[in-house]
Amino acid sequence: MRTFLALAVAGAAIASAYGTPKPSYGNEYSPVPASCSHLPPHQRLINQTYVLPDPFHFINGHPVRNEADWYCRAAQIRELFQKYELGYKPAKPPIFSSTYSNNTLNITAGLSKSKTINFSIPIKPANVTSNGASPAVIAYNGVSVPITAQAATIVLNVDQIALQDNSSSRGIGLFYDLYGNDTTRAGALMAWAWAVSRILDALEAHPEAGINPRKVAVTGCSRNGKGAMVAGAFDERIALTIPQESGSGGDACWRTSRDMLVNQNLATQTAQEIVTENVWFSESFDYFARDNYTVGLLPVDHHELAGLVAPRGLYSTNNVGFLWLGDWSTLECMTAANTIFQALGVADHQGFSQDGPHNHCSFPPDQEAEIAAFYNRFLLDEAVSTDVFRTVDNWTFDPKWTPWAVPDLVA
Ligand SMILES: *[C@@H]1O[C@H](CO)[C@@H](O)[C@H](O)[C@H]1NC(C)=O
Ligand SMILES: *[C@@H]1O[C@H](CO)[C@@H](O)[C@H](O)[C@H]1NC(C)=O
Ligand SMILES: *[C@@H]1O[C@H](CO)[C@@H](O)[C@H](O)[C@H]1NC(C)=O
Ligand SMILES: *[C@@H]1O[C@H](CO)[C@@H](O)[C@H](O)[C@H]1NC(C)=O
Ligand SMILES: *[C@@H]1O[C@H](CO)[C@@H](O)[C@H](O)[C@H]1NC(C)=O
Ligand SMILES: *[C@@H]1O[C@H](CO)[C@@H](O)[C@H](O)[C@H]1NC(C)=O
Ligand SMILES: *[C@@H]1O[C@H](CO)[C@@H](O)[C@H](O)[C@H]1NC(C)=O
Ligand SMILES: *[C@@H]1O[C@H](CO)[C@@H](O)[C@H](O)[C@H]1NC(C)=O
Ligand SMILES: *[C@@H]1O[C@H](CO)[C@@H](O)[C@H](O)[C@H]1NC(C)=O
Repeated sequence: MRTFLALAVAGAAIASAYGTPKPSYGNEYSPVPASCSHLPPHQRLINQTYVLPDPFHFINGHPVRNEADWYCRAAQIRELFQKYELGYKPAKPPIFSSTYSNNTLNITAGLSKSKTINFSIPIKPANVTSNGASPAVIAYNGVSVPITAQAATIVLNVDQIALQDNSSSRGIGLFYDLYGNDTTRAGALMAWAWAVSRILDALEAHPEAGINPRKVAVTGCSRNGKGAMVAGAFDERIALTIPQESGSGGDACWRTSRDMLVNQNLATQTAQEIVTENVWFSESFDYFARDNYTVGLLPVDHHELAGLVAPRGLYSTNNVGFLWLGDWSTLECMTAANTIFQALGVADHQGFSQDGPHNHCSFPPDQEAEIAAFYNRFLLDEAVSTDVFRTVDNWTFDPKWTPWAVPDLVA
């Protein structure tokens, strides 16, 4: 604490106590300078069940006062998510090569000559191309949102990277063939995010593929929507993140989902349920998901996962037809997430749209103009409005969840 204050007082010449530069969008993560604090070695976990963790204070209590501080805090939030919920995302491996031919990227990733994995990524070119490279949409396991005719489509078979059949699927898939399967390892959501980052690496290496790697969106529905959110949060090269009906573990917060179940008797998916259903999260998350009374100890929640996408584009959809998806919880959580976009001066870079009831993972006509606006703005650089924040339901946000002040980080 003292060190930070000393730096701040001496700070006429330095923009911030942490001095982090703005993200370039050219890197998987913004560079974090040495002055950006890492986690204390033994973090004391505070129990906050009816308050979402404050994104605008570091773990040591130091306030986030400007944009540079935010990128340091974002690095800390990424560390907390990896340590306690998602597992660690490995960096680009030392052996990495790719080829492009016949609309297919073939990627080889390896730790040594004898330990490699190969995966093949088909690219469906855009129907409408103008001069220059096309944007692209990476869709997990198949396409369930409309894709703009100007974008290529890249379907990633995420189950091949990390299987998600049931709670016995842990450690199965190409990611684990490469990295092994100890308990600090990534759960499936993070393994898929790693694969998305490697696709971006390969697109950067193959301009002849005709894809602009700075104009890539990632999307998925339901469990795959949880995955899309994690991919967007953990690679700053992704221009637009579109979690569709991702619910608990995606654009719902653990605490608000718990409140729905325990206090409102609304049968939604909670942390406690989710860890018994599948292998999406790291085993480190089990500690916080033991029963109905432990999730308050988690030092982050999903308003901050969504906030990691800021200032890039985020459009999440939800469907009131399924209580299981946590319709009330997602509204609370994404409203809280918007405070981070507000603090960065880009409130309308985050869209939230809750309609239905309709079939799970079908895309309703009333959302078509909304998703088109997000494509136009974040993939096609058009100056259009993306001011979308709506629900067809009667839920209202309860401000008890966000008792913290929202700083103006870009003043
Ligand atoms: C090119 O890809 C298509 C579709 O995946 C496949 O059917 C075709 O055999 C491939 N052609 C060559 C020359 O590999
Ligand atoms: C890419 O990988 C696929 C699947 O392993 C293989 O059939 C194809 O021949 C490879 N293409 C190139 C150019 O290596
Ligand atoms: C991956 O492809 C490379 C290059 O074709 C090959 O040397 C290697 O054996 C392959 N690895 C696996 C696990 O198939
Ligand atoms: C491109 O055209 C094909 C064939 O008409 C169609 O099936 C597909 O949905 C179109 N894709 C996009 C992204 O417009
Ligand atoms: C769980 O998934 C595994 C593969 O990951 C499969 O072998 C097994 O049959 C599944 N078990 C059940 C009960 O569905
Ligand atoms: C991965 O580890 C888990 C326990 O952490 C174990 O249950 C599972 O069987 C392992 N999977 C493989 C493929 O080794
Ligand atoms: C958590 O709360 C729900 C709703 O009250 C209840 O059905 C469930 O049994 C509780 N779980 C535990 C482990 O107590
Ligand atoms: C956390 O606080 C809640 C609400 O006060 C309480 O019900 C729960 O038992 C506490 N959990 C722990 C692990 O102390
Ligand atoms: C919202 O409230 C109105 C008025 O009470 C009611 O008619 C409507 O059915 C409610 N909508 C939903 C989705 O519950």
